[in-house]
Amino acid sequence: MKRDFLSIADWSSNELKKLIDISADMKAHPRKFRESIKGKSIALIFEKQSLRTHVTFDVGIYQLGGHSVYLTQTDINLGKRESIYDVSKNLERWMDAVVVRTYSHQSCVDMGRFTKIPVVNALTDYEHPCQAVGDFLTATEHLGKLRKKKFAFIGDGNNVCNSLMLMSAKMGMNFAVATPEGYEPPKEIVDLSRKEGKKSGAEIKVLRDPSEAVKNADVVYTDVWVSMGQEDEKEKRMKAFGDYQVNKQLMKLAKKSAVFMHCLPAHRGIEVTDDVMDSRQSVVWDEAENRLHSQKAIIYTLTKG
Ligand code: CP
Ligand code: NVA
Repeated sequence: MKRDFLSIADWSSNELKKLIDISADMKAHPRKFRESIKGKSIALIFEKQSLRTHVTFDVGIYQLGGHSVYLTQTDINLGKRESIYDVSKNLERWMDAVVVRTYSHQSCVDMGRFTKIPVVNALTDYEHPCQAVGDFLTATEHLGKLRKKKFAFIGDGNNVCNSLMLMSAKMGMNFAVATPEGYEPPKEIVDLSRKEGKKSGAEIKVLRDPSEAVKNADVVYTDVWVSMGQEDEKEKRMKAFGDYQVNKQLMKLAKKSAVFMHCLPAHRGIEVTDDVMDSRQSVVWDEAENRLHSQKAIIYTLTKG
């Protein structure tokens, strides 16, 4: 049975822990895995822009001995030039896996359903599971055991927040998100996270006040206020999120040992100030690096046979 990586929700906490362990092993012993997907070809389909995800999948696949083919909307016009079903059926005749970044989460799920080869979600409007694996490797490196520690997410209850909340819940890490009214994470993600939290011991809080969320936090995380595809809402969002900037003052409420995290790209001076991004607490470049190791672990796990 082939396996997809579409949502953090689909993987058990043990499977996710194992992925993070393999990511750490990939990082410590890159040579060990050098030929592990030798001769395999992987499609990278990107409807949206990307720096980190594109580069790290491309480089990671090369480092494992495989080969990638990068396809943008200009190349294939997914769902318009050809249906997702037909694209999926073509790809499985040539490729060993597909990595796909789409606006609609359903497109990614459909591809998983239509094709016999593994499909990896490289970000949709709903989730960014690869980001969550890399980020939990980073958090582990800096904080050690995460169980019962506190993760604070400030800003938009968006795709990145959804995957991080689910991951926290599965890892037993308390999670507090503070958003303006109307920008909370979707109810089904919160409900599912709370259900997982009951098993793992994680407490999941949805709050309004950023100070309350950040108080005694071990991780302070933020993301852009305007995600890809929301450009038309920019003005409205800039007003709504005005009080949700992560700055020095807010960081003071977290633990002294807390780390600042951001999936990037960051809009400096908007959701985060330069003095936080460039502070000693900031681990954003480690997060960017760890995308490479964790995505190698995901590709390896799904395609090793
Ligand atoms: N964090 C992240 O996914 O970055 P990109 O959009 O540049 O891939
Ligand atoms: N929430 C952002 C994340 C980018 C990596 C977006 O979807 O644009």
